[in-house]
Amino acid sequence: MGYKVAVVGATGNVGRVMLDILDERAFPADEVVALASRRSQGVEVSYGDRRLKAKALDTYDFSDVDICLMSAGGDVSREWAPRIAAQGAVVIDNSSAWRYDPDVPLVVPEVNAEAVRDFKKKNIIANPNCSTAQLVVALKPLHDAAKIKRVVVATYQSVSGAGKEGEDELDRQTRALYSLQPVEQKKFPKRIAFNLIPHIDAFMEDGSTKEEWKMVAETKKILDPAIKLTATCVRVPVFVGHSEAVNVEFERPITADEAREILRSAPGVMVIDTREPGGYITPHEAAGEDATYVSRIREDITVENGLSFWCVSDNLRKGAALNAVQIAETLVNRRLLTPRQRAA
Ligand SMILES: NC(=O)c1ccc[n+]([C@@H]2O[C@H](COP(=O)([O-])OP(=O)(O)OC[C@H]3O[C@@H](n4cnc5c(N)ncnc54)[C@H](OP(=O)(O)O)[C@@H]3O)[C@@H](O)[C@H]2O)c1
Repeated sequence: MGYKVAVVGATGNVGRVMLDILDERAFPADEVVALASRRSQGVEVSYGDRRLKAKALDTYDFSDVDICLMSAGGDVSREWAPRIAAQGAVVIDNSSAWRYDPDVPLVVPEVNAEAVRDFKKKNIIANPNCSTAQLVVALKPLHDAAKIKRVVVATYQSVSGAGKEGEDELDRQTRALYSLQPVEQKKFPKRIAFNLIPHIDAFMEDGSTKEEWKMVAETKKILDPAIKLTATCVRVPVFVGHSEAVNVEFERPITADEAREILRSAPGVMVIDTREPGGYITPHEAAGEDATYVSRIREDITVENGLSFWCVSDNLRKGAALNAVQIAETLVNRRLLTPRQRAA
């Protein structure tokens, strides 16, 4: 018998990709249900070559659901994840609502798969922020080799990271500018078309943003609380794919060649680094792919044991949907979850 999987937020950017990935990776599901808000009741979404009609979350009965993949925002998760979990389904949540709860594992399977063992405390597992997911996939093998002391990262985050409204805004503004129409700003605080914005999520008291704080807190929880990290998160006019310029200070010496070799054999990482025009990966090439790409690996002689590199990944896949499905696969492969009995 296979699993019954519910996808909450199935009409959204991440939810649609979740359905694609469940099908692509042949996740052992007997039944997949698509859920969204009442607004989308009856809207059709694709699951492989099948079409699923979205149902309303607030009237759905989860009593025979095994796994609920959630990507409907923090408020929906805060209200619904505990209710769904209480009905016996394991919730794998994409929002930031549960990430910092000590009783909720925060998991990137290539980095800390073993953390899933604690999922029963709340029956909820959290997926990290999209920028953190790709960063820790690249940092983990380097940390194992030379112990990271400090990371300085600048992100270049695509508009799809802000949901379908983010993508629509870049599309609308670009069209308006080309046709000399007035440019409307709704989703982002400044014009995003042919521009960039050094501000994602709310400002905090110390002048950093919540998005930057998330990268710090999540890297510590997933990889190592001793790592010091400072981030500057920037929204850029790219539809899909987040990029990061990363500078790392290690405890032990590590050369660029050593780092390249370590990363070449690391799970989830693809090194493209030929030090010539085009010998690196851009977000356009990473979109639709599962890997975290690392390029431009070089020594930083301005600090002891320093390295710099460039890191790109599809934020809707590794940054969200793929990671959530990999967590579900981890539960299945480690036999931590058996399908519930359902009426025939
Ligand atoms: N995009 C990324 O790169 C990324 C990465 C990591 C994590 N996340 C997180 O994933 C979540 C979703 O992101 P997204 O980019 O997919 O957003 P999105 O494109 O705006 O989609 C939001 C989804 O949530 C549903 N929803 C909204 N309110 C609801 C409610 N009251 N009840 C049930 N469903 C509701 C929407 O349904 P309707 O269509 O009916 O409104 C839609 O399916 C967010 O928490 C985000 O922070 C996103």
